[in-house]
Amino acid sequence: MTSTTRALRGRLLSFRDDPREAGSAAYDFIEDGLVEIADGTITAVGEASDLLARLPDGTAVDHYPDALILPGFIDTHIHYPQTQVIASYGAQLLDWLERYALVEEQRFSDPEHCAAVARFFIDELLRNGTTTAAVYCTVHPQSVEAFFAESHRRNTRMVAGKVLMDRDAPAGLSDCPESAYVQSSALIGQWHGKGRQLYCVTPRFAVTSTEAQLEAAGTLLKEHPDCYMQTHLSENRREIETVRALFPWAESYTGVYERFGLLGPRSLFGHCIHLEEGERRLLCESGSVAAFCPTSNLFIGSGLFDLAKARNGASPIRVGMATDVGGGTSYSLLRTLAEAYKVLQLQDQNLPALEAFYMITLGNARALGLEDRIGSLAPGREADITVLDARATPAMAHRFERVETLEEELFLLMTLGDDRAVRATYVAGAPAHQRDA
Ligand code: GUN
Ligand code: ZN
Repeated sequence: MTSTTRALRGRLLSFRDDPREAGSAAYDFIEDGLVEIADGTITAVGEASDLLARLPDGTAVDHYPDALILPGFIDTHIHYPQTQVIASYGAQLLDWLERYALVEEQRFSDPEHCAAVARFFIDELLRNGTTTAAVYCTVHPQSVEAFFAESHRRNTRMVAGKVLMDRDAPAGLSDCPESAYVQSSALIGQWHGKGRQLYCVTPRFAVTSTEAQLEAAGTLLKEHPDCYMQTHLSENRREIETVRALFPWAESYTGVYERFGLLGPRSLFGHCIHLEEGERRLLCESGSVAAFCPTSNLFIGSGLFDLAKARNGASPIRVGMATDVGGGTSYSLLRTLAEAYKVLQLQDQNLPALEAFYMITLGNARALGLEDRIGSLAPGREADITVLDARATPAMAHRFERVETLEEELFLLMTLGDDRAVRATYVAGAPAHQRDA
């Protein structure tokens, strides 16, 4: 028998499906609801009036009468070694990497630096209501070790891996096909499935890996089919030209990854902005996921992600929403939704608020194939929960006076909200952030 340790009471919002497909049947909203939690897992969800009376004696009830209680947010693409790269001025992708990202990442040879940044990074995610992320570490195994150790200590569900780079990278950030394979294998053995940690084979992108290294990545995935794969794809024109020159035999950039067995339903491709039709077909047929990173795409000047084409084109592609810090400019998935909305406006597309909140909860859980564990408030799900306050700032409170519907409240949250709108975050049922503490 499990013991109920906690309950959260307030205005509950959770998705069952994509609002584009299921309309108002896509979500459950309970004005005065209760989420019951035992041993880190949600055990009941319903009307507070029904559930309160049968809570075991002594159950702590955290009551947020005005707030919205949602599943914890999920980020499908972020770099933990780039917390001191974010907000670096004046460069597009390849120069930005050389001048900023690849300089900073060299500091992660020092395990103490890794540990300190991992601590900061997870704190910052939780302050922003993000409880799960797909995370790039650096080429140093100690960076992965430090990240998973910190995540395991916090009991957060994270997907992460060692970056593989064996060409055109600074000496301090270069491995080789053999060390990529040996070190990744060891990290998989140590961390994949330990507590809530999941491993992701992480070749940075085709520009910085030789064919032998991409082949090693494919071998790792064949040997560990339940691990993830993440890389970058078709973010920037110069990047694409470079890949063409490095892999002249390939039909396309995506074709390079396909050749080495890196496509599939557990494969996450950051950006996917300038795809050709044949590449869309490869991603579609393999069930691969494109990570839409709007703040990064605007900040680095990479281009506008075509969400309508990804979804409704001849070859529909699964899409995740992501921050891509430190190319991205915010840890907040609320801020990310605001920029996604603008990227789509520039292309005559829209992003309804219910759809947006679906994307950063159940949608991203589905993108990671984790929808049976996270992404919704339902019995049996892990109790990762975010509590939002749509009156977090004077401007938000002022605007809220005109809000009449749930959709308007959500749109206010995604347009003006940031970490200040995150009232509390719970990880596996335990308080992990309290804004007003
Ligand atoms: N492409 C290869 N590496 C990176 C990175 O660190 N950030 C972004 N935005 N794109 C990349
Ligand atoms: Zn990235």
